[in-house]
Amino acid sequence: MPNKPAILAEGLQKYYGKTRALAGLDLVAEEGTVLGLLGPNGAGKTTAVRILTTLLRPDAGRAEVAGLDVVKHADTLRARIGLAGQYAAVDENLTGYENLEMFGRLYHLSGAIARRRANELLERFDLVDAARRTVKTYSGGMRRRLDLAASLIISPPVLFLDEPTTGLDPRGRLAMWEVISSLVADGTTVLLTTQYLEEADQLADQIAVVDQGRVIANGTADELKTQVGGERLELTVARGGDLDAAAQALRPFSSGEIQVNMDRRGLVVPVTQGAQLLAAVVRDLDAEQIPLDDLALRRPTLDDVFLTLTGRAATTADLPEETPADRPLVRSSR
Ligand SMILES: Nc1ncnc2c1ncn2[C@@H]1O[C@H](COP(=O)(O)OP(=O)(O)OP(=O)(O)O)[C@@H](O)[C@H]1O
Ligand SMILES: [Mg+2]
Repeated sequence: MPNKPAILAEGLQKYYGKTRALAGLDLVAEEGTVLGLLGPNGAGKTTAVRILTTLLRPDAGRAEVAGLDVVKHADTLRARIGLAGQYAAVDENLTGYENLEMFGRLYHLSGAIARRRANELLERFDLVDAARRTVKTYSGGMRRRLDLAASLIISPPVLFLDEPTTGLDPRGRLAMWEVISSLVADGTTVLLTTQYLEEADQLADQIAVVDQGRVIANGTADELKTQVGGERLELTVARGGDLDAAAQALRPFSSGEIQVNMDRRGLVVPVTQGAQLLAAVVRDLDAEQIPLDDLALRRPTLDDVFLTLTGRAATTADLPEETPADRPLVRSSR
Protein backbone atom coordinates (compact mmCIF):
# COMPACT_ATOMS: atom_id res chain seq x y z
CA MET A 1 0.00 0.00 0.00
CA PRO A 2 1.50 3.35 -0.92
CA ASN A 3 2.27 5.69 1.96
CA LYS A 4 0.04 8.65 2.57
CA PRO A 5 1.63 11.78 1.22
CA ALA A 6 3.32 13.94 3.86
CA ILE A 7 1.58 17.01 2.51
CA LEU A 8 -1.71 17.01 0.71
CA ALA A 9 -3.82 20.04 -0.17
CA GLU A 10 -7.02 19.94 -2.17
CA GLY A 11 -8.85 22.94 -3.50
CA LEU A 12 -7.59 25.39 -0.91
CA GLN A 13 -9.21 28.78 -1.11
CA LYS A 14 -8.50 31.84 0.95
CA TYR A 15 -9.75 35.39 0.77
CA TYR A 16 -8.42 38.39 2.64
CA GLY A 17 -11.43 40.66 2.37
CA LYS A 18 -11.95 40.89 -1.34
CA THR A 19 -8.46 39.76 -2.24
CA ARG A 20 -8.41 36.18 -3.39
CA ALA A 21 -5.08 34.81 -2.19
CA LEU A 22 -5.77 31.15 -2.97
CA ALA A 23 -8.06 30.09 -5.76
CA GLY A 24 -8.24 26.30 -5.37
CA LEU A 25 -4.70 25.25 -4.65
CA ASP A 26 -3.77 21.55 -4.92
CA LEU A 27 -0.48 20.18 -3.64
CA VAL A 28 1.08 16.80 -2.94
CA ALA A 29 4.45 15.98 -1.40
CA GLU A 30 5.55 12.42 -0.76
CA GLU A 31 7.41 11.65 2.44
CA GLY A 32 11.10 12.44 2.35
CA THR A 33 10.91 14.71 -0.66
CA VAL A 34 11.21 18.43 -1.26
CA LEU A 35 8.27 20.22 -2.77
CA GLY A 36 9.16 23.60 -4.17
CA LEU A 37 6.46 26.23 -4.35
CA LEU A 38 7.66 28.61 -6.96
CA GLY A 39 5.94 31.82 -7.75
CA PRO A 40 6.22 35.58 -7.96
CA ASN A 41 5.26 38.12 -5.28
CA GLY A 42 1.65 37.76 -4.21
CA ALA A 43 1.18 34.33 -5.81
CA GLY A 44 -0.17 32.92 -2.54
CA LYS A 45 2.87 30.99 -1.31
CA THR A 46 2.90 32.35 2.23
CA THR A 47 -0.85 31.99 2.54
CA ALA A 48 -0.53 28.32 1.60
CA VAL A 49 2.27 27.81 4.12
CA ARG A 50 0.26 29.51 6.87
CA ILE A 51 -2.71 27.24 6.20
CA LEU A 52 -0.55 24.11 6.10
CA THR A 53 1.11 25.08 9.37
CA THR A 54 -2.28 25.69 11.09
CA LEU A 55 -1.77 29.43 11.47
CA LEU A 56 -4.64 30.28 9.17
CA ARG A 57 -7.89 28.48 8.34
CA PRO A 58 -8.82 27.95 4.72
CA ASP A 59 -12.17 29.30 3.48
CA ALA A 60 -12.64 26.16 1.41
CA GLY A 61 -10.78 22.98 0.56
CA ARG A 62 -8.84 20.71 2.87
CA ALA A 63 -5.29 19.82 3.74
CA GLU A 64 -3.41 17.13 5.62
CA VAL A 65 0.13 17.27 6.88
CA ALA A 66 1.79 14.14 8.29
CA GLY A 67 -1.60 12.47 7.98
CA LEU A 68 -3.31 15.06 10.20
CA ASP A 69 -6.02 17.46 9.09
CA VAL A 70 -4.69 21.00 9.43
CA VAL A 71 -7.96 22.29 10.88
CA LYS A 72 -9.30 19.35 12.89
CA HIS A 73 -5.97 18.21 14.32
CA ALA A 74 -4.19 21.53 14.43
CA ASP A 75 -2.86 21.10 17.98
CA THR A 76 -1.35 17.66 17.45
CA LEU A 77 0.05 18.71 14.13
CA ARG A 78 1.87 21.75 15.52
CA ALA A 79 4.27 19.53 17.46
CA ARG A 80 5.29 17.68 14.30
CA ILE A 81 6.16 20.50 12.00
CA GLY A 82 8.80 23.13 11.83
CA LEU A 83 8.38 26.53 10.27
CA ALA A 84 11.27 28.84 9.62
CA GLY A 85 10.53 32.13 11.26
CA GLN A 86 7.53 31.18 13.32
CA TYR A 87 8.99 29.57 16.43
CA ALA A 88 12.22 31.34 15.79
CA ALA A 89 11.35 34.56 17.55
CA VAL A 90 14.92 34.88 18.74
CA ASP A 91 15.64 36.82 21.90
CA GLU A 92 17.87 39.80 21.19
CA ASN A 93 19.35 39.82 24.67
CA LEU A 94 20.49 36.23 24.60
CA THR A 95 23.48 34.92 22.70
CA GLY A 96 23.04 32.79 19.61
CA TYR A 97 23.98 29.71 21.59
CA GLU A 98 21.57 30.55 24.43
CA ASN A 99 18.75 31.08 21.95
CA LEU A 100 19.21 27.69 20.35
CA GLU A 101 19.57 25.97 23.70
CA MET A 102 16.35 27.65 24.83
CA PHE A 103 14.48 26.44 21.75
CA GLY A 104 15.73 22.94 22.44
CA ARG A 105 14.35 23.12 25.96
CA LEU A 106 11.04 24.50 24.65
CA TYR A 107 10.81 21.37 22.56
CA HIS A 108 11.54 19.28 25.64
CA LEU A 109 14.99 18.11 24.61
CA SER A 110 17.21 17.16 27.53
CA GLY A 111 19.89 19.68 28.45
CA ALA A 112 22.71 17.62 26.98
CA ILE A 113 20.89 17.02 23.72
CA ALA A 114 19.78 20.64 23.43
CA ARG A 115 23.38 21.79 23.90
CA ARG A 116 24.72 19.31 21.37
CA ARG A 117 22.06 20.27 18.84
CA ALA A 118 22.76 23.97 19.43
CA ASN A 119 26.45 23.45 18.75
CA GLU A 120 25.77 21.39 15.63
CA LEU A 121 23.50 24.05 14.20
CA LEU A 122 25.85 26.91 15.06
CA GLU A 123 28.54 25.07 13.17
CA ARG A 124 26.33 24.32 10.22
CA PHE A 125 25.23 27.92 9.88
CA ASP A 126 28.67 29.35 10.34
CA LEU A 127 27.79 31.06 13.60
CA VAL A 128 30.40 29.49 15.84
CA ASP A 129 32.43 32.68 16.16
CA ALA A 130 29.33 34.69 17.01
CA ALA A 131 27.81 32.05 19.28
CA ARG A 132 28.70 33.84 22.52
CA ARG A 133 27.60 37.28 21.38
CA THR A 134 24.13 38.63 22.04
CA VAL A 135 21.87 38.60 19.01
CA LYS A 136 21.61 42.40 19.24
CA THR A 137 25.07 42.57 17.72
CA TYR A 138 24.24 40.28 14.78
CA SER A 139 23.93 41.44 11.19
CA GLY A 140 20.67 40.82 9.31
CA GLY A 141 22.09 37.78 7.57
CA MET A 142 23.32 36.30 10.84
CA ARG A 143 19.89 36.72 12.44
CA ARG A 144 18.35 35.05 9.45
CA ARG A 145 20.68 32.09 9.83
CA LEU A 146 19.95 31.84 13.53
CA ASP A 147 16.20 31.91 12.80
CA LEU A 148 16.61 29.05 10.41
CA ALA A 149 18.77 27.13 12.86
CA ALA A 150 16.08 27.51 15.52
CA SER A 151 13.42 26.06 13.22
CA LEU A 152 15.58 22.97 12.81
CA ILE A 153 16.16 22.24 16.50
CA ILE A 154 13.89 19.22 16.66
CA SER A 155 14.42 17.84 13.15
CA PRO A 156 10.67 17.85 12.53
CA PRO A 157 9.25 15.24 10.15
CA VAL A 158 7.71 17.98 8.00
CA LEU A 159 9.45 21.29 7.63
CA PHE A 160 8.09 24.45 6.04
CA LEU A 161 10.53 27.03 4.84
CA ASP A 162 9.05 30.22 3.51
CA GLU A 163 11.72 31.75 1.30
CA PRO A 164 14.50 30.26 3.40
CA THR A 165 17.36 31.92 1.62
CA THR A 166 15.99 35.38 0.98
CA GLY A 167 18.48 37.85 2.38
CA LEU A 168 21.29 35.35 2.66
CA ASP A 169 24.61 35.83 0.95
CA PRO A 170 25.80 33.05 -1.39
CA ARG A 171 27.63 31.29 1.43
CA GLY A 172 24.60 31.36 3.71
CA ARG A 173 22.47 30.12 0.86
CA LEU A 174 24.80 27.20 0.21
CA ALA A 175 24.84 26.35 3.91
CA MET A 176 21.05 26.36 3.91
CA TRP A 177 20.93 24.11 0.87
CA GLU A 178 23.26 21.67 2.55
CA VAL A 179 21.15 21.58 5.68
CA ILE A 180 17.97 21.02 3.68
CA SER A 181 19.57 18.24 1.66
CA SER A 182 20.84 16.44 4.74
CA LEU A 183 17.45 16.72 6.48
CA VAL A 184 15.77 15.24 3.46
CA ALA A 185 18.32 12.45 3.31
CA ASP A 186 17.24 11.63 6.87
CA GLY A 187 13.61 11.39 5.80
CA THR A 188 12.27 14.88 6.49
CA THR A 189 9.70 16.21 4.06
CA VAL A 190 10.28 19.83 3.11
CA LEU A 191 8.01 22.36 1.54
CA LEU A 192 9.93 25.41 0.56
CA THR A 193 8.71 28.50 -1.17
CA THR A 194 11.05 30.41 -3.33
CA GLN A 195 11.27 33.05 -5.95
CA TYR A 196 14.68 31.72 -6.89
CA LEU A 197 13.99 29.59 -9.88
CA GLU A 198 17.43 28.19 -9.63
CA GLU A 199 16.89 27.22 -5.98
CA ALA A 200 13.81 25.15 -6.81
CA ASP A 201 15.84 23.55 -9.57
CA GLN A 202 18.63 22.64 -7.13
CA LEU A 203 16.56 21.38 -4.23
CA ALA A 204 13.07 20.37 -5.17
CA ASP A 205 12.05 16.88 -6.26
CA GLN A 206 8.77 18.30 -7.41
CA ILE A 207 8.01 21.89 -8.27
CA ALA A 208 4.59 23.49 -8.20
CA VAL A 209 4.54 26.74 -10.09
CA VAL A 210 2.02 28.99 -8.37
CA ASP A 211 0.43 32.00 -9.94
CA GLN A 212 -2.57 33.96 -8.66
CA GLY A 213 -3.45 31.42 -6.02
CA ARG A 214 -3.37 28.26 -8.08
CA VAL A 215 -0.87 25.79 -9.44
CA ILE A 216 -0.29 26.45 -13.11
CA ALA A 217 2.32 23.76 -13.65
CA ASN A 218 3.66 20.77 -11.80
CA GLY A 219 6.56 18.42 -12.18
CA THR A 220 10.25 17.88 -11.74
CA ALA A 221 12.58 20.63 -12.88
CA ASP A 222 13.39 18.47 -15.91
CA GLU A 223 9.74 17.95 -16.76
CA LEU A 224 9.04 21.64 -16.54
CA LYS A 225 11.99 22.39 -18.73
CA THR A 226 10.87 19.81 -21.24
CA GLN A 227 7.46 21.43 -21.29
CA VAL A 228 9.13 24.52 -22.67
CA GLY A 229 10.83 22.33 -25.19
CA GLY A 230 14.34 21.95 -26.46
CA GLU A 231 17.34 24.02 -25.68
CA ARG A 232 18.40 27.60 -25.97
CA LEU A 233 21.16 28.79 -28.21
CA GLU A 234 22.69 31.96 -26.80
CA LEU A 235 24.87 34.11 -28.98
CA THR A 236 26.72 37.32 -28.49
CA VAL A 237 27.63 39.10 -31.69
CA ALA A 238 30.87 41.05 -31.79
CA ARG A 239 29.21 44.10 -33.36
CA GLY A 240 25.84 45.37 -32.19
CA GLY A 241 24.99 46.39 -35.74
CA ASP A 242 24.93 42.73 -36.75
CA LEU A 243 22.06 41.78 -34.44
CA ASP A 244 19.29 42.00 -37.02
CA ALA A 245 21.26 40.20 -39.69
CA ALA A 246 22.18 37.50 -37.18
CA ALA A 247 18.55 37.05 -36.13
CA GLN A 248 17.65 36.75 -39.81
CA ALA A 249 20.34 34.15 -40.44
CA LEU A 250 19.27 32.12 -37.40
CA ARG A 251 15.57 32.05 -38.16
CA PRO A 252 15.74 28.70 -40.02
CA PHE A 253 17.28 27.06 -36.94
CA SER A 254 14.77 28.41 -34.49
CA SER A 255 11.80 26.50 -33.09
CA GLY A 256 10.18 29.60 -31.57
CA GLU A 257 10.51 33.28 -31.06
CA ILE A 258 14.05 34.67 -31.08
CA GLN A 259 14.77 37.06 -28.22
CA VAL A 260 17.05 39.97 -28.98
CA ASN A 261 18.93 41.81 -26.27
CA MET A 262 20.39 45.04 -27.64
CA ASP A 263 22.32 45.95 -24.50
CA ARG A 264 24.18 42.68 -24.40
CA ARG A 265 24.42 42.24 -28.15
CA GLY A 266 22.73 38.95 -27.43
CA LEU A 267 20.31 36.58 -29.10
CA VAL A 268 18.44 33.69 -27.51
CA VAL A 269 17.19 31.14 -30.01
CA PRO A 270 14.99 28.21 -28.99
CA VAL A 271 16.21 25.15 -30.84
CA THR A 272 15.34 21.47 -30.92
CA GLN A 273 18.51 19.68 -31.94
CA GLY A 274 21.03 21.89 -30.21
CA ALA A 275 24.35 20.14 -30.51
CA GLN A 276 23.95 19.15 -34.14
CA LEU A 277 23.04 22.70 -35.06
CA LEU A 278 26.10 24.36 -33.63
CA ALA A 279 28.37 23.63 -36.59
CA ALA A 280 25.75 24.77 -39.08
CA VAL A 281 25.10 27.96 -37.14
CA VAL A 282 28.77 28.80 -37.00
CA ARG A 283 29.14 28.10 -40.72
CA ASP A 284 26.16 30.21 -41.73
CA LEU A 285 27.15 33.17 -39.60
CA ASP A 286 30.68 32.94 -40.98
CA ALA A 287 29.28 33.02 -44.49
CA GLU A 288 27.34 36.19 -43.58
CA GLN A 289 30.54 37.62 -42.07
CA ILE A 290 29.00 38.05 -38.67
CA PRO A 291 31.70 37.54 -36.05
CA LEU A 292 30.66 36.19 -32.65
CA ASP A 293 32.02 36.88 -29.20
CA ASP A 294 30.29 33.94 -27.64
CA LEU A 295 28.12 31.02 -28.52
CA ALA A 296 26.54 28.70 -25.98
CA LEU A 297 23.91 26.05 -25.81
CA ARG A 298 21.92 25.61 -22.63
CA ARG A 299 18.82 23.83 -21.42
CA PRO A 300 15.91 26.16 -20.70
CA THR A 301 16.00 27.65 -17.21
CA LEU A 302 12.98 27.84 -14.99
CA ASP A 303 12.86 31.51 -15.96
CA ASP A 304 12.12 30.38 -19.48
CA VAL A 305 9.49 28.03 -18.05
CA PHE A 306 7.76 30.84 -16.20
CA LEU A 307 7.85 33.07 -19.23
CA THR A 308 6.35 30.34 -21.38
CA LEU A 309 3.64 29.48 -18.85
CA THR A 310 2.52 32.95 -17.91
CA GLY A 311 3.69 35.10 -20.76
CA ARG A 312 5.58 37.26 -18.28
CA ALA A 313 8.85 37.11 -16.46
CA ALA A 314 8.97 35.90 -12.88
CA THR A 315 9.95 38.57 -10.38
CA THR A 316 13.40 37.54 -9.41
CA ALA A 317 15.08 40.45 -7.77
CA ASP A 318 18.67 39.77 -6.74
CA LEU A 319 19.06 36.38 -8.31
CA PRO A 320 22.17 34.58 -7.14
CA GLU A 321 25.26 34.36 -9.28
CA GLU A 322 25.40 31.80 -12.03
CA THR A 323 25.49 28.28 -10.64
CA PRO A 324 26.16 24.94 -12.28
CA ALA A 325 22.45 24.59 -13.06
CA ASP A 326 22.57 27.68 -15.25
CA ARG A 327 25.71 26.74 -16.99
CA PRO A 328 25.39 25.83 -20.60
CA LEU A 329 25.78 22.25 -21.76
CA VAL A 330 28.17 23.26 -24.48
CA ARG A 331 30.10 26.46 -24.70
CA SER A 332 32.52 27.60 -27.29
CA SER A 333 34.08 31.03 -27.39
CA ARG A 334 35.60 32.41 -30.48
N1 LIG B 1 -2.96 39.70 5.84
C1 LIG B 1 -3.35 40.02 4.60
N2 LIG B 1 -4.35 40.90 4.39
C2 LIG B 1 -4.74 41.20 3.14
N3 LIG B 1 -4.22 40.69 2.01
C3 LIG B 1 -3.22 39.80 2.14
C4 LIG B 1 -2.72 39.43 3.44
N4 LIG B 1 -1.72 38.52 3.26
C5 LIG B 1 -1.60 38.37 1.92
N5 LIG B 1 -2.49 39.12 1.25
C6 LIG B 1 -2.68 39.15 -0.22
O1 LIG B 1 -2.91 37.83 -0.65
C7 LIG B 1 -2.18 37.56 -1.85
C8 LIG B 1 -1.22 36.40 -1.64
O2 LIG B 1 -0.23 36.80 -0.70
P1 LIG B 1 0.93 35.85 -0.19
O3 LIG B 1 1.62 36.57 0.91
O4 LIG B 1 0.36 34.52 0.13
O5 LIG B 1 1.84 35.75 -1.48
P2 LIG B 1 3.34 35.20 -1.62
O6 LIG B 1 3.33 34.29 -2.78
O7 LIG B 1 3.82 34.69 -0.33
O8 LIG B 1 4.15 36.52 -2.02
P3 LIG B 1 5.69 36.93 -1.68
O9 LIG B 1 6.52 36.25 -2.70
O10 LIG B 1 5.67 38.40 -1.87
O11 LIG B 1 5.97 36.51 -0.27
C9 LIG B 1 -1.51 38.86 -2.24
O12 LIG B 1 -2.37 39.53 -3.14
C10 LIG B 1 -1.43 39.61 -0.94
O13 LIG B 1 -1.46 41.00 -1.17
MG1 LIG C 1 5.42 35.15 0.89
